[in-house]
Amino acid sequence: MTHTGHVHAHAAEPMADFSRESWEAKYREREALWSGQPNAPLVDEVENLAPASALEVGCGEGADAVWLATQGWQVTGVDLSATALARAQVHAEASGVAAHVTFTDAAIGDVIAAHGPWELVTSMYTHPGEGGRWLVETLAAAVAPGGRLLVVGHHPTDPHAAEHPDLADAAFAAEDVADALDRSEWEVSASIRERTTLGEGGHERLWRDSVLVARRHG
Ligand SMILES: C[S@@+](CC[C@H](N)C(=O)[O-])C[C@H]1O[C@@H](n2cnc3c(N)ncnc32)[C@H](O)[C@@H]1O
Repeated sequence: MTHTGHVHAHAAEPMADFSRESWEAKYREREALWSGQPNAPLVDEVENLAPASALEVGCGEGADAVWLATQGWQVTGVDLSATALARAQVHAEASGVAAHVTFTDAAIGDVIAAHGPWELVTSMYTHPGEGGRWLVETLAAAVAPGGRLLVVGHHPTDPHAAEHPDLADAAFAAEDVADALDRSEWEVSASIRERTTLGEGGHERLWRDSVLVARRHG
């Protein structure tokens, strides 16, 4: 099935340089990097859950965090880029949910140690330099008993991975990173999901994503 969502406002591609400076420069190049719409895998996974507390890592310009807040979640959004976070704050204020979202550029580990755990922990296309397995391991530690982890990223078989070495470097298969989770503690679903976006010039582009959904036993 083909989905839209994570609609790029511009035809941005993942980058080989995953540093704070590189992301900050990328955001400063454009008024908006992303569409402002929530990612479809997040909406599908969360829309029928009872709202509670949520951590979003790699929240970018805040579309998912703001959407969660409009659904009644109390959200902590983390990102490396001060410019992206400033835009996220403006989006939250314009949507009337600023009281329900806190944005920070602190290191993920520090945020988790100071404020965790959360009932929902999500990360959409973050691809940190430390890799997908590290991300899953780190975020799993932030999920409360009975809570959920949702991690989405680019799959190694994305049709454009061969042309974009940066994308190929960052990609991971959900079943591989799911190995970081102890199955006696977690119920795990790992899948591939396809979606299309319209790039510059109106060309349709097919993406293939890895989707990891895990529920921690209560
Ligand atoms: C491809 S963008 C995705 C943004 C947003 N999740 C979305 O789907 O529109 C990746 C984001 O992850 C952030 N990021 C990358 N590594 C990170 C890290 N180690 N800690 C926090 N944020 C990180 C980047 O600054 C960037 O905003």
